[in-house]
Amino acid sequence: MTSFEPKDISTAKLHGYLLSAVAPRPIAFASTMDEHGNPNLSPFSFFNVFSANPPILIFSPARRVRDNTTKHTLENAESMKEVVINVVNYDIVQQMSLSSTEYAQGVNEFDKAGLTMLKSDIVKPFRVAESPVQFECKVNEIIKLGAEGGAGNLIICEVVKLHINDAVLNESGSIDQEKLDLVARAGGSYYSRAKTGFFEIPKPLSTLGIGVDALPENIRNSAVLTGNDLGLLGNVEALPTKEAINAFAEKHDNIALTEVEKHKKAQNLLSFGDVESAWKVLLS
Ligand SMILES: Cc1cc2nc3c(=O)[nH]c(=O)nc-3n(C[C@H](O)[C@H](O)[C@H](O)COP(=O)(O)O)c2cc1C
Repeated sequence: MTSFEPKDISTAKLHGYLLSAVAPRPIAFASTMDEHGNPNLSPFSFFNVFSANPPILIFSPARRVRDNTTKHTLENAESMKEVVINVVNYDIVQQMSLSSTEYAQGVNEFDKAGLTMLKSDIVKPFRVAESPVQFECKVNEIIKLGAEGGAGNLIICEVVKLHINDAVLNESGSIDQEKLDLVARAGGSYYSRAKTGFFEIPKPLSTLGIGVDALPENIRNSAVLTGNDLGLLGNVEALPTKEAINAFAEKHDNIALTEVEKHKKAQNLLSFGDVESAWKVLLS
């Protein structure tokens, strides 16, 4: 284990560790406007949603580690108190990346990136027409996290209007995660395309699973079963009855299996989501 306190390494090195370890991060494609009406567009992956009522998104343009200067987006958000946050899907990832080029104040990154400015309904900054979800926001507050290079500035945005492209909605009117096809930022030059990496985990039982601590010790300490396997096994309300276990064992010829073989067989069943049969194998 490599261990150290933040003060023992340079900010640039620490920045690299933080951004690789806390990843992938969603990307706020933030559109602002300066007081002369010049549009600005830049991506920020220090970003997330923090509240639904009120609807709050927060992103953070940091002071540059290099020379402690601030970003135009921060300056515009401070002076105009309005932002449009657009989500970034795979179709616009290269244009989003291009827009992060540090163009001079007043240069319109919509033009540089070849993206279309769409008038907003409530705020002055433009929306990105190509982005499938656009949030018009008022800036409630900006919290400065420090005065040195690398310090973040939390721009607390309240959503005043949402725009969702119908093409990413399913029949019930919810966003189809596959159709949305978001991308996220990781360390260095890595990005991740959410669509190709999705998998689902059903919510834990509302009736309360027995928990990993209630599993028999030989299962909890198995050399075969992983933490994910144990998590699935702990998410059952009750263990199968003796009769069900015996009936299953006779039918599937499990009785002669060694403990390791049972664990392997159970693991295979768990990989298909068949938790009940996995339990019957383990307890046979
Ligand atoms: C995907 C991506 C995510 C980024 N995230 C951040 C971030 O969270 N904070 C930050 O200060 N800069 C971030 N940047 C860099 C800014 O986009 C870049 O400094 C940009 O030029 C700032 O533009 P502005 O001065 O017009 O605001 C990111 C760049 C990319 C490509």
